[in-house]
Amino acid sequence: MSVLPPPLIAILIFFLTFIAPFSFSLPEHHSHFTKHTLHHNNTSSQPQQYFEITHPLPFTKLPPSCTYHILKHNFSNTIGLPPVSTTYSPPTNCSWTHVALQFNASSKGVQYERIAAVWLGGAELLRTSTAQPNDGGVYWTVTKDVTKYSSILVKQNISLSVMLENMVNDIYTGAYNVNISFLYYDVKKMDPNDMVVDSPIKMGVNDLRSTEYEKPADLIIPISRNGSEGFWFLVLNESELHGKRVTIPKNTYKAVIEIYVSSHGYDQFWYSNPPDSYFQMNNLTTKRGHGAYREVLVNIDENLVGSVVPFPVIFTGGINPLYWEPLVSIGAFDLPSYDIDLTPYLGLLLDGQAHFLGLGVNDSIPFWLVDANLHLWVDNNCTLPCQVQANALDLGTPKFKIERKSSFLGLDGSFEVELKRESEISSWVNSTAGNLTTITKRELKFRNKIYFYLNGTEKHIKQKVKEEIEVEVLSDSGSTISKTKVKRKFPLTITTKTLPAKENGTSLIQSDLDHEWKEKKKSDGGSSSTLTNRQQCNGWMVVQDRNVLYGGATTQQTYSYSGEADCYSRVVSAVNGKLMNDTANSLCAAAPLKYGSFSAL
Ligand SMILES: *[C@@H]1O[C@H](CO)[C@@H](O)[C@H](O)[C@H]1NC(C)=O
Ligand SMILES: *[C@@H]1O[C@H](CO)[C@@H](O)[C@H](O)[C@H]1NC(C)=O
Ligand SMILES: *[C@@H]1O[C@H](CO)[C@@H](O)[C@H](O)[C@H]1NC(C)=O
Ligand SMILES: *[C@@H]1O[C@H](CO)[C@@H](O)[C@H](O)[C@H]1NC(C)=O
Ligand SMILES: *[C@@H]1O[C@H](CO)[C@@H](O)[C@H](O)[C@H]1NC(C)=O
Ligand SMILES: *[C@@H]1O[C@H](CO)[C@@H](O)[C@H](O)[C@H]1NC(C)=O
Ligand SMILES: *[C@@H]1O[C@H](CO)[C@@H](O)[C@H](O)[C@H]1NC(C)=O
Ligand SMILES: *[C@@H]1O[C@H](CO)[C@@H](O)[C@H](O)[C@H]1NC(C)=O
Ligand SMILES: *[C@@H]1O[C@H](CO)[C@@H](O)[C@H](O)[C@H]1NC(C)=O
Ligand SMILES: *[C@@H]1O[C@H](CO)[C@@H](O)[C@H](O)[C@H]1NC(C)=O
Ligand SMILES: *[C@@H]1O[C@H](CO)[C@@H](O)[C@H](O)[C@H]1NC(C)=O
Ligand SMILES: *[C@@H]1O[C@H](CO)[C@@H](O)[C@H](O)[C@H]1NC(C)=O
Repeated sequence: MSVLPPPLIAILIFFLTFIAPFSFSLPEHHSHFTKHTLHHNNTSSQPQQYFEITHPLPFTKLPPSCTYHILKHNFSNTIGLPPVSTTYSPPTNCSWTHVALQFNASSKGVQYERIAAVWLGGAELLRTSTAQPNDGGVYWTVTKDVTKYSSILVKQNISLSVMLENMVNDIYTGAYNVNISFLYYDVKKMDPNDMVVDSPIKMGVNDLRSTEYEKPADLIIPISRNGSEGFWFLVLNESELHGKRVTIPKNTYKAVIEIYVSSHGYDQFWYSNPPDSYFQMNNLTTKRGHGAYREVLVNIDENLVGSVVPFPVIFTGGINPLYWEPLVSIGAFDLPSYDIDLTPYLGLLLDGQAHFLGLGVNDSIPFWLVDANLHLWVDNNCTLPCQVQANALDLGTPKFKIERKSSFLGLDGSFEVELKRESEISSWVNSTAGNLTTITKRELKFRNKIYFYLNGTEKHIKQKVKEEIEVEVLSDSGSTISKTKVKRKFPLTITTKTLPAKENGTSLIQSDLDHEWKEKKKSDGGSSSTLTNRQQCNGWMVVQDRNVLYGGATTQQTYSYSGEADCYSRVVSAVNGKLMNDTANSLCAAAPLKYGSFSAL
């Protein structure tokens, strides 16, 4: 990557995202579309609101103590430009315990969806993608709990930066008008009757995903680029490792790395990429290959310390853009970040030396945008010369197995990748809280199957990601202090059928999609939470090149969260861009009575 001069990188990003992958002819399925000649039956009317279904943040029921409108920008021709930046300082004389970031955007005309991010002091707060606009205009709001970044939010005179590369011309007329605010809340002032949450901090989808933030970190070190091209690292292939040398305070007792990631260009639909041999044997020039397994890796110096198979977020031009009106895909407006607990490696990091924290993507092809935040908790009762001590008792021998099978004749065939990782680490940290031993067990299973039928015009993709993490903390005396288990599943199936070109080079594409974010968290103290967020879509469209001329689509979404004290469920369906059914409720399904417990009566 360092061999490319900056302007070339910018051009590369642009072309890889929006043009290059489609320079070959059928039978390769196009998966990324825009709607520049599509006129809805009813679009000349009012601007339409788009949204992603999430759990509302309980503290936003309060009026904010302060509101800070920090940035307003109309992103039109921003390819290759540095991020738009402004200076941030926290509001004075404002008492707050919680903070929400509000990202409002609107657009009108024709435009591809774009990737964007917000950084504060170089730490990423939000990765988001845009909706595709239409003639009537679209607008949306993303409200994200950013309380876990409090140690940055209290800093003076730091820079808030936003990257959103866009291009406006005669055909692609849509500029993205963005308005960013911070809303500060004081939960201490909240009426307890309104504050139905598990704990002041544990709430919302993102907090369920991020199990590590019961209390915000004392210090956050961005593992990001300090760059005029955005703070994310551009990953072009599997051999690249990007990162930063960091030295952590000697009284750190807990460390979690939070990874932000999105895939683009040839890898935007990585889960549908066949192996390179398929293209070679069929003399196809497409580069969207390299098989259908990708994994983001985290290294400390030369050691692999963690990995993530990212949830396949589908942007609003993906598969069939009519699916995502006005309900966008899971994670499209607030891409999930992933936490990896690095506490077992504190023995390595606490030696007072600088260590290289590196990020890479296994099997990647151009291109990925990746960066991370290192969250650190320090022992405030232990100030120098006191030091926290840590070491690994047993780093075990991590197991890793990957199997790939492919069998094809001409354009038809099947491809399969199966992966399994298992690890068990035990380590101790001695701080003023005592000498605590942590045993972390992790199991990751990944399976992807792709089938091509009917001379490659029919494609089936079936992917499963399953991860289980169990963490047990033991006291000095060996008794269990806590034990938590988190299970996650990301199933995905996609079917597309293409009836090829007639006159004018149009083709009919029919597709079905079913994907889900499923998560269960259980602590031995009895607390538990579950989240299931599923979208099922089907539709058809007539396309010319990558333009949707007309079509129809149905999307059905079921969201269901249940926590200790707080539940939220919502069922929504959209047909041809209109909401048909939207029911929400905050009632918890009647839990079976526990024997001997009267609290539910
Ligand atoms: C527009 O909507 C009306 C009423 O829903 C329907 O009868 C008509 O066929 C639609 N026209 C097009 C071009 O889709
Ligand atoms: C167009 O939208 C308006 C407002 O939503 C609605 O009242 C009207 O029935 C719609 N017309 C058609 C043809 O769908
Ligand atoms: C944003 O810029 C575009 C042209 O680049 C312009 O047409 C549009 O009116 C602007 N929007 C706002 C809200 O300023
Ligand atoms: C700070 O806020 C309090 C209560 O809102 C107000 O009484 C006080 O005058 C403010 N102080 C300053 C310096 O603005
Ligand atoms: C952002 O959108 C929300 C919800 O529509 C609205 O309440 C808020 O005022 C908007 N903020 C700005 C700065 O426009
Ligand atoms: C922040 O910048 C302002 C204006 O440049 C300056 O007056 C102030 O002292 C700075 N504060 C800090 C903490 O650096
Ligand atoms: C691919 O190209 C080679 C050399 O041009 C040719 O011999 C072979 O038949 C082609 N294969 C297919 C499947 O078209
Ligand atoms: C463990 O940490 C505490 C607090 O920092 C310290 O007082 C104690 O000496 C440490 N124990 C050992 C065996 O070093
Ligand atoms: C902490 O406990 C572990 C496991 O019992 C032990 O091996 C280690 O020496 C202890 N560390 C300190 C500083 O006491
Ligand atoms: C399969 O597709 C290829 C490329 O589009 C085409 O050349 C070939 O004739 C097709 N074969 C059949 C049996 O339709
Ligand atoms: C082909 O495209 C031209 C120009 O867009 C249009 O006038 C013509 O009706 C189209 N033919 C068919 C069969 O769709
Ligand atoms: C709308 O959702 C509710 C709640 O799930 C369901 O009872 C109802 O049948 C749905 N209606 C339609 C038209 O899908």
